Amino acid sequence: MTEQRNPLGLKKIHHVEFYVGNAKQAEFFYRKAFGFSRVGYMGLETGNREVTSYLLKQNNVNFILSTPLLPDHPGSEHIKQHGDGVHDIAFQVEDVDHAFNEAVKRGARPVEEPHDHGDENGVVRHASIATYGDTIHSFLSYSRGGSAPANAGGIDRTAAAPAEEKYVYSGVFLPGFVEQQVEGESTGIMLVDHIVGNVELGKMNEWCDFYRDVMGFHRYITFDDEDISTEYSALMSIVMSDGGHNIKFPINEPAESKKGVSQIQEYIDYYRSAGAQHIALLCRDVLHTVGMLQANGVEFLRVPDTYYDEIPERIGEIDENIDDLKKLGILVDRDEEGYLLQIFTKPVEDRPTVFYEILQRKGCKGFGKGNFKALFVSIEEEQRRRGNL
Ligand code: FE2
Repeated sequence: MTEQRNPLGLKKIHHVEFYVGNAKQAEFFYRKAFGFSRVGYMGLETGNREVTSYLLKQNNVNFILSTPLLPDHPGSEHIKQHGDGVHDIAFQVEDVDHAFNEAVKRGARPVEEPHDHGDENGVVRHASIATYGDTIHSFLSYSRGGSAPANAGGIDRTAAAPAEEKYVYSGVFLPGFVEQQVEGESTGIMLVDHIVGNVELGKMNEWCDFYRDVMGFHRYITFDDEDISTEYSALMSIVMSDGGHNIKFPINEPAESKKGVSQIQEYIDYYRSAGAQHIALLCRDVLHTVGMLQANGVEFLRVPDTYYDEIPERIGEIDENIDDLKKLGILVDRDEEGYLLQIFTKPVEDRPTVFYEILQRKGCKGFGKGNFKALFVSIEEEQRRRGNL
């Protein structure tokens, strides 16, 4: 099977960096509640006078939680405007210079020009461009070295070697981080499946064009009003994906609702701009993962129990016991190729902004369209409690 080659040479999501008000406490939450392990740290003790960052890892998911130490750090303004939120969805790319130059040529707004970023463990190449709101996409290229390269810091980059041979990094993660192991009890979260962006009314097509024209993605699935309108919470959504379908970015915009405020508009009102709405984390055994997350105190949205009476007819045969799903509040949806199991957390900040989806795919490539209506009724119930409907 041939995969479309991505014109920027994007390989995968390398990490997601959040700006948060108190990274020390956020780290504790993600470790104790979500089961991440702390593997890296930078801050005053490592000579960084501007920002403290914790690197959290669970299987293939890397989160960086960063808190600026100074009011004039750009992260301080990010937190002032948006509260805790996603600052950077960073990609590993084949060649940063190519990815950046190509993206800018195709219309991206540059944030950071390509530059070397190194420490005693080697050098990585880094650049970044802007996406929706104040969110950025970093590009990183390097290969993992087994030990510190002999020429670290003095690599000859004039040679016409592929970027991966020029940039070798053997440290814990990225330059600046020191290894700091604090084990979490893994909940079985494996991989980022997709990251949803909420954009302003009327801006969805513009941002889908950005992911098509600049990032070389294509339109994967479209949901419209018909699929996902309840009385209040209308939204439109288009899923953009890279050629290999490794990276999927649905883009939502609020749609005209019959009364009240669309949940997408509520997000934008509190995030005060477009931004990342939810990160969907893939697991292999959703009953196990969600069971652990709930025991750890993660709060999930719940649909009415009657939802489960309709599963046999709506979905057909599934491997799981429906009572087990009902107990945990896990939702099921099906497409031609299989089914998926999913559940959504409540926002993980005080502002009604970023939340998580936990999902398991059993062949299904969709996003749970069949669950939208049931879910939105429960989201609106939360919105009503917040006085924002
Ligand atoms: Fe999702």
